[in-house]
Amino acid sequence: MLLKILTPSVLKRTVSVGIFSRLRSTNVKMSLEEAKQAAAIQAVDNFIQNNMVVGIGSGSTVIYAVQRLAERAETENLKVTCVPTSFQAKGLINKHNLKLAELDTHPVIDVTIDGADEVDSNMVLIKGGGGCLLQEKIVASCSKLLIVIADYTKDSTKLGDRYKKGIPIEVVPMAYVPVKQKIEARFGGKTELRKAIAKAGPVVTDNGNFILDWLFTDQNLNWELVNQELNLIPGVVETGLFVNMCYKAFFGQPEGGVVERIRK
Ligand code: A5P
Repeated sequence: MLLKILTPSVLKRTVSVGIFSRLRSTNVKMSLEEAKQAAAIQAVDNFIQNNMVVGIGSGSTVIYAVQRLAERAETENLKVTCVPTSFQAKGLINKHNLKLAELDTHPVIDVTIDGADEVDSNMVLIKGGGGCLLQEKIVASCSKLLIVIADYTKDSTKLGDRYKKGIPIEVVPMAYVPVKQKIEARFGGKTELRKAIAKAGPVVTDNGNFILDWLFTDQNLNWELVNQELNLIPGVVETGLFVNMCYKAFFGQPEGGVVERIRK
């Protein structure tokens, strides 16, 4: 009788509220959230040591990494100094009573842990789905190591295989139309001004800029050159293409476990 009503969706819901949790390790699919959490825990446990300066990325997966840091601060007396990549990240650091710092005082970061929207087989990343790409790239560029944490849906062969929202490009507001036209003329595809959800008009980033989402059509572009060219267009502040930056990615898997990949 009981087994009859345990459809997959009911099972998933049941597992997420903690009943029958032993089924987790057998035949119940993990939720995306559980996959994100597994990746975050593994990354924090493998890379973060006492007294490190840690870059805190942005997005929904990073929440689990900060929770894990706070847990280790409590149980192991782990001491870390955290540099945020966004308004959101700063809030997370403060919420968990971790030590907050800025690049002014901590310009060299030991390890940054961040999410990604897509990771290709060369470890090129699309970032900025949450609009925080500029500070994320600045902090990553000041880090000895950039570690990505993600669920399995972010793991691609080529950029655009799975992430369909394009490459975010942060632009100075007055330049968004010429930048949009130049990108489309030079590389093809379409660019869209990102619109806010709970406000009329465009998304305004933590830095007071706009975001163009470039829906590219050619998946075989040389992303390193594209990134360089995009950054040379006057009005472009930064792109969400992270090339040769990420050292290692952790992907939480649907059946549990975490797949790790290192940049060659
Ligand atoms: C924020 O602007 C992004 O770069 C995020 O790091 C990226 O979108 C991943 O976010 P999730 O962890 O929410 O998927």
